[in-house]
Amino acid sequence: MIYYFSGTGNSLAVAQGIAMVTGQQLSDTIEPTLHGEDDDAVGFVCPVYAWGIPRTFKQTITRWMELVNTGQISTPDYIFLVLTCGDDIGMTDKEVGRLLKKSNFRLDACFSVAMPNTYVCLPGFDIDSEELQQQKLKSANERIAEIARHIHCRTRRLTQVVRGAVPRLKSYVLRPLFNTFLTGDKHFHTTDACNGCGYCQRICPMHNISATSDGKPQWNGQCADCLRCYHLCPRHAIHYAGRTLQKGQYHHKALHTKPGHHTDGQ
Ligand SMILES: Cc1cc2nc3c(=O)[nH]c(=O)nc-3n(C[C@H](O)[C@H](O)[C@H](O)COP(=O)(O)O)c2cc1C
Repeated sequence: MIYYFSGTGNSLAVAQGIAMVTGQQLSDTIEPTLHGEDDDAVGFVCPVYAWGIPRTFKQTITRWMELVNTGQISTPDYIFLVLTCGDDIGMTDKEVGRLLKKSNFRLDACFSVAMPNTYVCLPGFDIDSEELQQQKLKSANERIAEIARHIHCRTRRLTQVVRGAVPRLKSYVLRPLFNTFLTGDKHFHTTDACNGCGYCQRICPMHNISATSDGKPQWNGQCADCLRCYHLCPRHAIHYAGRTLQKGQYHHKALHTKPGHHTDGQ
């Protein structure tokens, strides 16, 4: 089984690419009944948010450990982690390793994959140029094949990640600051371009968006910070703190293979 979280489709595409080779099932929820009897490898695939894993995915891993420890999911023989990022992951793999170790699980292999960037909420951050997106997606295909080979061969004690410069500063100093001041949904707003189509409500992975009386989106405090609403708004009418008005939108086409994502919201 491969458990994943994906805001804009990158991590989903990577999880799908691995599953195509390993034959594993994919799930974005932890359901004991979904777990195949003969599945001795478990994978976790998610994006890196501020040099750490998304809060919601930490809950997923924690829930998985509870279910294994209470015998509702069988204990795997092999655990792997794949982190997708725009540039680098800081100490994210260590964070996950520590989380698993608390319940006596060991991460056997850990990988990072550079994918098109999705963070746009601060000045100086924008989506990658079309050319860079294509380059990253092309390299990612080779990288996914390599990762899948390692998983297939059950390579252990393997860490193949790009931590980047000053990774401890990023994960242990900047990340807490980011989590305190730059997460949550209170800064989302719409422009006049919003026609109240409701697409953002249907696609939010956290079911965190409802409609106001005029049909415009209202965020309800359970945001995963994934920016799916921003990137997929068909009218580019959703923005963050007025800072994204000139920024681009991006999502991976893999997202359209998920139920509920086949409309364009018109
Ligand atoms: C809130 C947020 C924080 C991010 N932080 C980082 C980061 O610390 N390092 C990095 O390289 N990319 C960062 N990114 C970019 C994403 O990790 C990257 O684009 C990822 O592949 C998105 O995956 P998804 O499409 O599955 O959501 C961030 C993106 C978001 C939305």
